[in-house]
Amino acid sequence: MQKSKKLILALDVPDLDHAIEIADKLGGYIDIFKVGLELYSVAGPAVVKELHKRGHRVFLDLKFHDIPTTVARAGVAVARQGVFMFNVHASGGLDMMKKCRDEVVNVCLKENLARPRIIAVTVLTSMSQDVLKSEIGIQHSLNTHVRHLSGLALKSGLDGVVASGREAVMIKGHCGDKFLIVTPGIRPSWAAPDDQNRTMTPKEAVRAGADYLVAGRAVLNHPDPAKAIERIEQEISGI
Ligand code: C5P
Repeated sequence: MQKSKKLILALDVPDLDHAIEIADKLGGYIDIFKVGLELYSVAGPAVVKELHKRGHRVFLDLKFHDIPTTVARAGVAVARQGVFMFNVHASGGLDMMKKCRDEVVNVCLKENLARPRIIAVTVLTSMSQDVLKSEIGIQHSLNTHVRHLSGLALKSGLDGVVASGREAVMIKGHCGDKFLIVTPGIRPSWAAPDDQNRTMTPKEAVRAGADYLVAGRAVLNHPDPAKAIERIEQEISGI
């Protein structure tokens, strides 16, 4: 099997050894690995370095959300680590996203680095309409909120958004076809929903317009993770 062009594997494991063991086992199937908060909090830049050494690309999923200067500095720091993609929260606002993007672009030009894709988290795929309204206090619909935040990310010059496949058609319609959609919360028909809410099967998500899919537990908790990747690939090939 060729390495997947669309499937990003989330290395949601507690330490570097574990992560590298998975990358070595599944590296023939996966090009882009996602390093999230849990792993980066323990292993830091070393995990990015180890994955790069093995020829992989890294999506650093740290979901930056802070004052514009802090997020811009964090963006520059991870750009210097050579990550392929990283993300910020769109709800941090236009200034935060724009400053981050502008400073990353400047540093990459100055230091001759490949510019990472910067994408924005709209509304987490674990969040439901009810929670968004009753706990977070957003009165309009989840769809309207995702549409609004996606537009803000586009206006800030970001490359795309992290969003549920359920919102992909609407986002492409609003932000254009080139605006990237990275879709987590992928659940093949044979996998458990876990704590995700707005899930879709891989096929549904790609059909709806997702450019990349992020899978974690559906692959890692499968008795044969390589087989799980193959099944997902079969499902999305030729769409
Ligand atoms: O195991 P599962 O496939 O649900 O993992 C999804 C991964 O995608 C997790 O690492 C989670 O942090 C990440 N993610 C998400 N929803 C977002 C952004 C990232 O589930 N909106």
